[in-house]
Amino acid sequence: MTANNFVAMIVEETEDKNYPIRIGERSVKDLPSGDILMKVHYSSLNYKDALSATGQFGVTRNYPHTPGIDAAGEVVESSDRAFKPGDKVIVTSYDLGMDTPGGFGQYIRVPAKWVVPLPDGLRLRESMILGTAGLTAGLMVEKLIRNGVKSEQGEILVTGATGGVGSLAVAILSKAGYRVIAATGKSSQKEYLLSLGAADVIGREDVLQGAERPLMRERWAGVVDVVGGEMLAAAIKSTRYDGTVACCGLVGSRELSVNVLPFILRGVSLMGTDSVQCPMAPRRIVWEKLAGEWKLESLETIVRECTLHTLEKEIRAILKGQMRGRVLVNLLKS
Ligand SMILES: NC(=O)c1ccc[n+]([C@@H]2O[C@H](COP(=O)([O-])OP(=O)(O)OC[C@H]3O[C@@H](n4cnc5c(N)ncnc54)[C@H](OP(=O)(O)O)[C@@H]3O)[C@@H](O)[C@H]2O)c1
Repeated sequence: MTANNFVAMIVEETEDKNYPIRIGERSVKDLPSGDILMKVHYSSLNYKDALSATGQFGVTRNYPHTPGIDAAGEVVESSDRAFKPGDKVIVTSYDLGMDTPGGFGQYIRVPAKWVVPLPDGLRLRESMILGTAGLTAGLMVEKLIRNGVKSEQGEILVTGATGGVGSLAVAILSKAGYRVIAATGKSSQKEYLLSLGAADVIGREDVLQGAERPLMRERWAGVVDVVGGEMLAAAIKSTRYDGTVACCGLVGSRELSVNVLPFILRGVSLMGTDSVQCPMAPRRIVWEKLAGEWKLESLETIVRECTLHTLEKEIRAILKGQMRGRVLVNLLKS
């Protein structure tokens, strides 16, 4: 291994549209141009990484490719005055890991405007246990708060609760003082969800009960949804007067079939959440909160650590909805 080469996950595209994954060497000089060369200490696995690593439509256009929409590490070279070698930084989303070589490699080169200084109060490892999932969960909680949802107004539903975004949403909402009801398809994970701060755990079918009706019993003061489809529709129809539903995902379905009654009779708000092009100001606000008032003691119970060499089986598991919590990728050991 020369100083200019590094270890990375490399996804190829074959003529018959297979996407074999291997761990190999890449060269720093082949990284795209950019202001900041960063040595990646940690990355993490998100649902979108699994889509990119398996060639699924709409994520990555150009292969061979190194996925990884999250990276935390230290600046090695900088042509931007805001950063200097040795600075600890976080990069999530934008084009990282989509068509820009991502955090499943030991080095990345990115524009300075993608880079967030590691906030005081957070270690690099902690920042990647959170990663895009934590940022997205935080952005959704922030939307509920800014839309006026208060803890005394009632319970907050979190769907897909054992997944990455769901687990962190449960923990952040609980830390922020809300009474959280975690909805999951994994009845065996009740203790895990309670340990994150859920007040109660219900099954997916409980959320869907009565969903054939145009409006359902008013239950939720707010909702954090990662599932989409019928789950999101049912959540909207059972949100209480003036409540807020924040959504970010499509693991169940990207379709949404719902009538206007919850919006025009109950004043329910539906708020979309995007962590990819999210501007720097709200991004930094959420990272500061994650390092401060929302700092989670439960982070180590949410995470499982792997290296590049053991990452592929985690990629297969997340695609099957089998994930619990977060997978941290340790690039220092890869
Ligand atoms: N908009 C954004 O910026 C943004 C950012 C991050 C993530 N996302 C999206 O958010 C979603 C979740 O991401 P993630 O990283 O948290 O994924 P994840 O770790 O795989 O978690 C998803 C969870 O959803 C539940 N689930 C899976 N398949 C389901 C199905 N068919 N029906 C109902 N529930 C199902 C499972 O939890 P239970 O077994 O507990 O129900 C699963 O653990 C993805 O769609 C991702 O693309 C969007």
